[in-house]
Amino acid sequence: MQNLTEIYAAKVASGEFHVDDAQEAVLPEFERIRAAVAQPVKKTWFRKTTPEAISGLYLWGGVGRGKSMLMDLFVDSLEVPARRVHFHAFMQEIHTAMHQARQNGVEDAIQPVAQSVADSVRVLAFDEMQITDITDAMIVGRLFEKLFEAGVVVVTTSNRIPDDLYKDGLNRQLFVPFIHLLKDQMRVWELASPNDYRQNRLAGNQVYFVQAGGEARADIQAIWQDLTGGKADPLVLTIKGREVTIPAFRNGVARARFFDLCGAMLGPGDYLAIADAVKLLILEDIPRLSRSNFNEAKRFVTLIDALYEAKTRLICSAAAEPEMLYVEGEGTFEFERTASRLREMQAEDWGKDAR
Ligand SMILES: Nc1ncnc2c1ncn2[C@@H]1O[C@H](COP(=O)(O)OP(=O)(O)OP(=O)(O)O)[C@@H](O)[C@H]1O
Ligand SMILES: [Mg+2]
Repeated sequence: MQNLTEIYAAKVASGEFHVDDAQEAVLPEFERIRAAVAQPVKKTWFRKTTPEAISGLYLWGGVGRGKSMLMDLFVDSLEVPARRVHFHAFMQEIHTAMHQARQNGVEDAIQPVAQSVADSVRVLAFDEMQITDITDAMIVGRLFEKLFEAGVVVVTTSNRIPDDLYKDGLNRQLFVPFIHLLKDQMRVWELASPNDYRQNRLAGNQVYFVQAGGEARADIQAIWQDLTGGKADPLVLTIKGREVTIPAFRNGVARARFFDLCGAMLGPGDYLAIADAVKLLILEDIPRLSRSNFNEAKRFVTLIDALYEAKTRLICSAAAEPEMLYVEGEGTFEFERTASRLREMQAEDWGKDAR
């Protein structure tokens, strides 16, 4: 079995990764956890099954620095039951499980739900921890307390330092103990690499594909494969109690077709939430827009505005160049701004200063 430094070095040697001092520096932290969880759990008379506490790792930093990539390397190297899950998806599962437990008459639902998570894994690896929702903010403290008590080791990536989680959130004072808990149970580490690799990977690449039929699909598939390794899950966002599903999502990168996002009855709040949850959107098959698909066109304008504001990168395939997408019918005037934004968003360094 190779250690993580060796695994990383092999990937650098094969040309898969560029060597990065900041990434190399955090490898011993992951290795510490990997080695510790590999030890058999000691059974003593007073603590029969709860493993000894091992500090987890809270890896934070700017976008595209390689946090998710390093976490994936770590998870793939583990030989104990582990789960890598998007934080948001995990919290949704927790809410569903708690709802079910309550329906079965359990009053304090956090305890059994946390226990069943702890029974199935030794390591939980969360991608993109961020807390924006008060329903999450109010339960994470007790949930994580139970998980840690049960000996679960937590590793997480985030764009924020723990003290800034749920910043300016409602009832934040009730959330603060969770921050203390995280700092107590996990080492906090900033991945301070100067390189945004996601941006670098796109540098010089075409990001707006004009196609008559489906010719751009292979090019887009190659970009998707490069950014995500081809592994993806649907991302379900709950927005004001409604669920909006993005068909494929991994490591901040989402992929959808025009009709998935603009053919459904979505409004500005939905598009803002999508833009916020995603760092790069691949949007395929944008058709020519006109009177006949006026509602879709209007939603597309709203979507582009939301992506633009959030500095979410966009890769897309469309039936025409931005200026030629919407040339007749009501709304063409408003579309000029959208076309101009679509142009601007193609610039190599666009979105560079994103969150
Ligand atoms: N050292 C490296 N050499 C080459 N590519 C890299 C390197 N590190 C990361 N990448 C690639 O750069 C892209 C972005 O990395 P990753 O998704 O891990 O960033 P991140 O820090 O998680 O960003 P975010 O905060 O936006 O989630 C991925 O496609 C990843 O494989
Ligand atoms: Mg990431």
